[in-house]
Amino acid sequence: MSLIYRRKANQPSIFHVIHDYLGEIRPFAKRIEKKHLILPLVFLKTIEWSIYRWYKTPIRRFYGVKGNELIYMITRRCNERCSKCGIWKNPEPDSEHLKVSDFINCLKSLHNNLYQVTLTGGEPLLFMEDVLKIAEESTKLNVPMLIVTNGSLINENFLNRYSKLDHILVISIDTLDKEKWPEFRGRDNFDAVMNNLQIAKKMLGDKLRIQSVFAQETINDIPKIIAFCKDVGIRHVSQPYMDFGGIWQEAKQIYENKNDIVCIARKNICIYPNGDVVKCFDHYRIPIAKEPLGNIEKEDIIPILCKKRSTEISKIMKTCNYPCKNLSCNKPQTLLFN
Ligand SMILES: C[S@@+](CC[C@H](N)C(=O)[O-])C[C@H]1O[C@@H](n2cnc3c(N)ncnc32)[C@H](O)[C@@H]1O
Ligand code: SF4
Ligand code: SF4
Repeated sequence: MSLIYRRKANQPSIFHVIHDYLGEIRPFAKRIEKKHLILPLVFLKTIEWSIYRWYKTPIRRFYGVKGNELIYMITRRCNERCSKCGIWKNPEPDSEHLKVSDFINCLKSLHNNLYQVTLTGGEPLLFMEDVLKIAEESTKLNVPMLIVTNGSLINENFLNRYSKLDHILVISIDTLDKEKWPEFRGRDNFDAVMNNLQIAKKMLGDKLRIQSVFAQETINDIPKIIAFCKDVGIRHVSQPYMDFGGIWQEAKQIYENKNDIVCIARKNICIYPNGDVVKCFDHYRIPIAKEPLGNIEKEDIIPILCKKRSTEISKIMKTCNYPCKNLSCNKPQTLLFN
């Protein structure tokens, strides 16, 4: 729901109410795949919209109950050197690494609004103890969690603790070709990662997923990964190659941006390793979103999200249509993991 009310207190103009309603309902209706469910679900959504439209605790108007994903890039450091990715080239110094307690406070403030907390990086498992603390806190707060990892640092101790929490683990794999692997990852650790994958599958079952990056370089690899996943019963998703500072080529077809897919990033709350808050990690594409909205080490997350610029950015993002809308974190959950 929009936080933008361009009206004087208690004097809504009918135009703004209609605009607000359509801005909420249209993208919602587009995401419903089964046509016969559109009317009943739009009806229910209208009731929800009406409640939040008139009952306004500040945060609930946009950040509805279980309506948002909190995405934490816990670090830019990485133990791998993937040629697709440039994140590892700019690791944060210790002085710019947020304390885990600051992130947990943010999670506690927002938990009623979250349908998921996602940890990415860099390599999140370089901070395994912090990751587990966050995972344990998420379970206490009843927020599902997902970690995206290169899979090289997973060990049984981690899996033992993580498997009890019922969260998802996504391992990134772009080829099953042992010869190609070192060129893709900058590390010759195919056997170690595949071994970790097997143990993870045993201990996490359906909570283990695989994600691949779709690019010119992986066009022939992805079908093999999909076949492997089907064979061993692991759900899989591909996301298109983007400019993360790597040196891969784009695959032409991914830039045929489908206009019917709406970017849901406006419902995301993204945190950088130093605590800076943005609405999506591609915010540099949107002029008024280039500067972070605030920093959770210095300020509580709720006032940060209630800033006028935050609501203005969310509004612009409703119709934002760059290729980054196809990244997993910016797509509706229903379109992920086959
Ligand atoms: C940046 S990584 C961080 C987490 C972890 N280090 C890993 O590799 O899974 C998050 C996801 O982005 C993917 N990724 C890396 N470089 C990418 C790029 N240039 N375009 C699209 N996705 C990319 C990775 O494969 C991974 O699935
Ligand atoms: S994709 Fe992941 S594993 Fe590879 S360099 Fe980037 S952050 Fe590290
Ligand atoms: S299209 Fe890209 S830049 Fe625009 S809101 Fe979505 S993720 Fe952000």
